[in-house]
Amino acid sequence: MAERLLEAIGLNAAYAGYDGREVQAVDNCSVYIDEGEILGVAGESGCGKSTLGAVLSLTTRPPLYVKSGTLRIDGKEQELGHGVKIPREWRGEVVSLLPQGALNSLSYTAKISSLVVDVMRAHDPSIKKDEALDRARDRMKAVGLPPRALDSYPHQLSGGMKQRVITIISTLLNPRLLIADEPTSALDVSSQRALVEMLREMLNQRIMAGVIFITHDLPLLKSISDRIAVMYAGQIVEVGAAETIAERPWHPYSAALLNAVLAPEPETLTKKVFAIQGSPPSLVAPPPGCRFHPRCGLEMDICSEKEPSPRGDHMRYSKCWWTQQNPTTPINLDDVLGFKAKIDDVRDESLVAAIDHVAGPVVTAEAPTKEVS
Ligand SMILES: Nc1ncnc2c1ncn2[C@@H]1O[C@H](COP(=O)(O)OP(=O)(O)O)[C@@H](O)[C@H]1O
Ligand code: SF4
Ligand SMILES: [Mg+2]
Repeated sequence: MAERLLEAIGLNAAYAGYDGREVQAVDNCSVYIDEGEILGVAGESGCGKSTLGAVLSLTTRPPLYVKSGTLRIDGKEQELGHGVKIPREWRGEVVSLLPQGALNSLSYTAKISSLVVDVMRAHDPSIKKDEALDRARDRMKAVGLPPRALDSYPHQLSGGMKQRVITIISTLLNPRLLIADEPTSALDVSSQRALVEMLREMLNQRIMAGVIFITHDLPLLKSISDRIAVMYAGQIVEVGAAETIAERPWHPYSAALLNAVLAPEPETLTKKVFAIQGSPPSLVAPPPGCRFHPRCGLEMDICSEKEPSPRGDHMRYSKCWWTQQNPTTPINLDDVLGFKAKIDDVRDESLVAAIDHVAGPVVTAEAPTKEVS
């Protein structure tokens, strides 16, 4: 059986506001990852994915602070919370975060090689420049990337190559776990694939023992991750094996999210392209009960009154009253979206153009007319 690499229990983290109100972006989240796994974390923008990534990688800084929770990594346990001192070696060396938007934050006037040296020296000021660059070169060779990319300026590399190079750089301290936050969001489909293949190869070569892959694109996670955690409004609402969630989601939000983004596979080109109407709530004062209830066509009276208790176990669970009452009935997407549905214009023009190019225009469907009282 695979060893447990990281386990987080009951994490709570919030942004302190100037007016004294806080944004509780991570609310009682528990999650684990085993050795050799890619764990996908999905959810719309604003659901707390990046905040969870910051907490798990121990890179929180004000105004974000961790209120409570426990982290177990490789058998060692660390309580989190106000005033708790985190061992320095836990950052970067045990868990490394590749932050969202890392591509855009690269300096245009410095070569990639100087970034490598900066990253290594931040943790070990005595390391020699050649030593740092040798390590980067070896690692790039190991995963089939041209080491000459180190001598380039960021603008000389394609987006896909730049993302793969900075992913490699974020593993130079040999972390056990890499957390990659939206690493594919700015990439075209083939560059996405190349990055994902590289991550798998790094796992196979034991460069790191696990990857947490954060994205708003749940359909992408179906094919690349072993397990998935779905986040909504600061909470994990469903967890399970990737293929199980894809085949039979237990949470209406997962069902909607699986269909909300246009999947680039040719066989799905005629699928309805739905958007869930509305957006995730403000986390200053989230809706009572199930936080998804204002957007859910399956809503019942209890949904706005009481927070759903989890159904299942730590391997597979969801937090939804409807699923608890209808455990054997598959969720019908039309019912979830119901009158709240609207057919969205396809927003990702570059993706649409790419798909049109290989398979003809995307077909969208008529808006559902069904009314839900
Ligand atoms: N610096 C900040 N100050 C206050 N609120 C923030 C800050 N950064 C993020 N938030 C809020 O925290 C919530 C979660 O954000 P985030 O973790 O970035 O979500 P995601 O990565 O899923 O898009 C959102 O409601 C967002 O508005
Ligand atoms: S059925 Fe109720 S509990 Fe389930 S997702 Fe919809 S609103 Fe939430
Ligand atoms: Mg984010």
